[in-house]
Amino acid sequence: MFITFEGIEGSGKSSLIAQLKKYFKSSKLEAFFSKEPGGTDLGKEIRKILLNPKYSFDPTSELLLLLADRAEHVQKIIRPNLQKNKLIFCDRYLDSTLAYQGSGRNLDKKIIKKMFKALDFPIPDLTILLDVPVQIGLSRARKRNKLDRFEKEDLNFHENVRRSYLDLAKNDSARIVLFDSSISEEELFKKAVNLIKSRISG
Ligand code: TYD
Repeated sequence: MFITFEGIEGSGKSSLIAQLKKYFKSSKLEAFFSKEPGGTDLGKEIRKILLNPKYSFDPTSELLLLLADRAEHVQKIIRPNLQKNKLIFCDRYLDSTLAYQGSGRNLDKKIIKKMFKALDFPIPDLTILLDVPVQIGLSRARKRNKLDRFEKEDLNFHENVRRSYLDLAKNDSARIVLFDSSISEEELFKKAVNLIKSRISG
């Protein structure tokens, strides 16, 4: 089973994933945790380039770097683990590209989806989308560390990304489950574990 996590900057993804990692480490289920960009050796190098605020890329070049990261990740990590019937969790995946490059950078989402298809990227079984108002998310993210190339984008960019995520969830509610991340971390964790368990046993 393939489960992904999505959300804008500061939506609480990282702390939820850290808690799930701990939880699944002590459970019988063999779970593998990964992330994009940067889930492979090549991906780590691509990630450094993508996040470095000294660069300004043409949106199509940015998209192709992300797809190179994903192609490597799918071939080396995701597909082999899925073939072994493992439970695989991934921090960001296809929906990040539709939200950030599609709505954030204004690239054609139909073309992005065609590229996903042509590259034969597996579709997640479940996606947990953490939603938070942009002002709150960004102020959390901005407290953490030096801003990366995406965090440096303006409010409007992040509003477009958030709106796009909410649209994706509305249009594919069977796969994408929306959680309001303004509830406590503990509650969020409990809700996520219950959902994941129900999908595994269902
Ligand atoms: P992330 O690892 O979540 O950042 P952080 O470690 O700071 O929480 O993601 C890195 C950035 O990459 C994030 O700002 C969103 C961006 N991104 C895209 O724009 N498109 C994509 O397809 C992916 C996977 C990530």
